[in-house]
Amino acid sequence: MKYTIAVLPGDGVGPEVMAEGIKVLQAVSKKFGHEFQLHRGVVGGAAIDAHKVALPQDVVPMCKGCHAVLFGAVGGPKWDDPTAPVRPEQAILGLRKGLNLYANLRPVQVYPMLEDATTLKPEVIHGVDMIVVRELTGGIYFGRPQRRWRSARGRQAVDTLRYSEKEIERVLRTGFELARMRSKKLTSVDKANILDSSRLWRQIATELGGEYPEVRLEHVLVDTAAMRLVRDPASFDVIVTENMFGDILTDEAAVLGGSMGMMASASLGGSTSAFASKRRVRRMGFYEPIHGTAPDIAGKNLANPIGMIRSVALMFQYSLALPREAKAIEDAVFQVLQQGYRTGDIGSRGQRVVGTREMGDQIAGALAGTSTVASAPRRR
Ligand code: IPM
Ligand code: MG
Repeated sequence: MKYTIAVLPGDGVGPEVMAEGIKVLQAVSKKFGHEFQLHRGVVGGAAIDAHKVALPQDVVPMCKGCHAVLFGAVGGPKWDDPTAPVRPEQAILGLRKGLNLYANLRPVQVYPMLEDATTLKPEVIHGVDMIVVRELTGGIYFGRPQRRWRSARGRQAVDTLRYSEKEIERVLRTGFELARMRSKKLTSVDKANILDSSRLWRQIATELGGEYPEVRLEHVLVDTAAMRLVRDPASFDVIVTENMFGDILTDEAAVLGGSMGMMASASLGGSTSAFASKRRVRRMGFYEPIHGTAPDIAGKNLANPIGMIRSVALMFQYSLALPREAKAIEDAVFQVLQQGYRTGDIGSRGQRVVGTREMGDQIAGALAGTSTVASAPRRR
């Protein structure tokens, strides 16, 4: 089978980690006999420099014609003027909206050999294996009005947090479907003591709960959830929440895994029934590491490519419906970490600290090799 993949490296370390993601993709292609056709696009600061816009018009249609999109990161100090009308982040928001990627999946796992790489105690993070489902195309990120103005009382600004029933329902369903496939526990995070949008969210979650009697649903306020994430993170399995809460909580959750550089994400559009179906269903998706452009280390062969490489694994799982290939990538990452290879962000004394390219080579090599010294624990 021939797959078409859109490749949007972006800025900063984006192109560096993308190169390693593609290296691993090619290793999968060789091992499993798939053919990939890559369509490259320029987005973010790179596009502002070349075309004066963060998201050139042809990018969304090009992505729509592909099976999946691989994305690096966008932004950087060069384009950081808060008063500039054109900003690199417009690319990512435009892609999310343009491709209707309403469900953002951010898995958080702790690799046993990285338990000492975090600032938290090993006994706190031991056994963490959760997935956060973040709503991605609504809420305060997109609500209108959004503007600043001058008034007699000085400068003012407004952002709008708005949600429709339909937007809430589809992302909650994604949460329920995932929970059904995992440990049947769903935590819905809101701020229902204060916000009307959260009270609607909680009401719809409770109503949907009736359709998923096998899933144990709990409602947790976002402030409490933030605390529980560092106090008792293993008590979570699937978390579902609105756009901005999810943005904040997933940065916090990334600490559990040792480094932002390890974390992958999948953003999905289309029907939630893809999960429910017993058949393997291909579904358009967008895959990116959760880290940013890390301008301070860009171009120095220092970035950790594992978040990007694991995003490629998520692409095989969710968009191409090839779970064996996804597992092979995860196993290769596990094996290389087991062998002691580390990038600087997760390295400590006594380990083999390597650069971005060498880490990619090791993982691609482990994938191609026949040795199966270590296998990642099976996902629930
Ligand atoms: C993320 C990022 C983005 C967001 C930025 C870059 C727009 O922080 O993907 O979490 O806020 O959604
Ligand atoms: Mg964020």
